[in-house]
Amino acid sequence: MASYDNIQTETKDRVGIIRLNRPKALNALCADLIRELGMALDAFEGDPAIGCVVLTGSDKAFAAGADIKEMKEKSYQDVFLQDFITVGWEKVSQIRKPIVAAVAGYALGGGCEMAMMCDFIIAADNAKFGQPEITLGTIPGAGGTQRLPRFVGKSKAMDLILTGRMMDAAEAERCGLVSRVVPLAQLMDEAVTAAEKIAGMSLPATMVAKEAVNRAFETTLAEGVRFERRTFHATFAFEDRAEGMSAFADKRKARWKHR
Ligand code: CAA
Repeated sequence: MASYDNIQTETKDRVGIIRLNRPKALNALCADLIRELGMALDAFEGDPAIGCVVLTGSDKAFAAGADIKEMKEKSYQDVFLQDFITVGWEKVSQIRKPIVAAVAGYALGGGCEMAMMCDFIIAADNAKFGQPEITLGTIPGAGGTQRLPRFVGKSKAMDLILTGRMMDAAEAERCGLVSRVVPLAQLMDEAVTAAEKIAGMSLPATMVAKEAVNRAFETTLAEGVRFERRTFHATFAFEDRAEGMSAFADKRKARWKHR
């Protein structure tokens, strides 16, 4: 397994775990971390033995945002020419395998945005979410103004983005940002168990399910349903679809080939 300076990776059966690991900066998302994260995601995406990824941080911080110290001297020309917050960052939303965010502590700015790029968020009871960029004289730049309203609606998104306030895990669950809240000590067990369950399904089925749900955020209902119908039909080409239905009829466990 590759070794990195700003992240740690491990596998548990068919689950790939990526832990953001820049403790002195509360996992602020500097360029080197993002580059390493991109490499780790590519490695898990390309590994047929991996069926689901868990992205997590420390007990204190999932990530406290983009690295403010690294960004503070950048000019408009710098950020435009580098296409800042694009290369590497968008990998999290582009990975085709399922990816679960396990969030404890701060998920602020780019940290909250990165969690929202994952397929769903499991939060520890000490999690704090926010988009505090307004307090720095700027706005969210990794999708926060677009993804947060899709999760929580306009009113709550405006409240968070315009005031810069943080919300706790209970509020995040109430407004639909996170799928479940668990005690901090159980966060990784809960996230890895969920990821193992997903990785125990047919991989291509989970990949098309993810693609179909994501389509809901990019199109009309009629177009989305048409896409779903065709994609559902396409699953009839999977060997695993035939196996899954045969196994049900035979009252036995399906043996997936991930094909
Ligand atoms: N960038 C760089 N360094 C950061 C950081 C960040 N986003 N967040 C924390 N750190 C650093 C601190 O500077 C500090 O370093 P030093 O020990 O060298 O001073 C270290 O991490 C620990 O932080 P604090 O001492 O501030 O810890 P705290 O417990 O008192 O406060 C906190 C925690 C409330 C999260 C506070 O650190 C904070 O407000 N951080 C910034 C949050 C923020 O504004 N995030 C948005 C960034 S902009 C962005 O993300 C743009 C985008 O959309 C892509």
